Amino acid sequence: MIGALVTVFLLFFSGTVLGHGSLGKHDKNCDSLTYRDSVSSKPQFSFRNTAYFNGARVYEYNSNSQKAVPEPEWENVEDWDKESQIQKQRGDFAIETLKEIIRISPQETESHVLNGRINCELCQNGSTSSSWSYSYDGDPFIRFDKDKLAWIAEQPAATIIKQKWEETPGAVNRTKEYLEKECIETLKKFRDYKKAN
Ligand SMILES: *[C@@H]1O[C@H](CO)[C@@H](O)[C@H](O)[C@H]1NC(C)=O
Ligand SMILES: *[C@@H]1O[C@H](CO)[C@@H](O)[C@H](O)[C@H]1NC(C)=O
Repeated sequence: MIGALVTVFLLFFSGTVLGHGSLGKHDKNCDSLTYRDSVSSKPQFSFRNTAYFNGARVYEYNSNSQKAVPEPEWENVEDWDKESQIQKQRGDFAIETLKEIIRISPQETESHVLNGRINCELCQNGSTSSSWSYSYDGDPFIRFDKDKLAWIAEQPAATIIKQKWEETPGAVNRTKEYLEKECIETLKKFRDYKKAN
């Protein structure tokens, strides 16, 4: 009986996760934090950012409301006004980036989407991993390489974005630091909050 309930729960759970855009399998030995950005050009330029802890949604921000709205169980984990301000800035920057890509790429369609994914993982044995990448209209566009301390352009138009993102002194260092320190710190905060609540 309990076995059947667990199976039903797992089916339902993975269905829910897939419904939010597949986040893949969750390794039970590791906790994961994933941020997904979606920047669209139509009907008007807009930005959405969603965070997931172990595949379950923590909050969603969108540029129409300019508010990061937590799931009820996560209401007290963050200062959501502050998070809204951070995402407002990230959204403005992401929209400028999409506009720039549209300016410099050959145009085949009317509407365009830039999707970003930031992920970090912390496993029970203490090992960590992280990644930061973007796709444009569904194709790999640019990704961060922590060892090379550089953005890797995966399309011709991405080389111009790479130059922009690397030109400020210290910018790539901050990107690496974000992935290896800040992302993991937030992940630990969410993990500890989840344990206590
Ligand atoms: C730590 O655990 C993860 C997940 O179980 C595994 O993939 C990784 O290889 C382990 N690392 C070490 C150094 O044992
Ligand atoms: C970035 O990090 C590298 C390697 O850790 C270091 O040599 C360099 O001085 C740093 N640059 C800036 C601008 O912080």
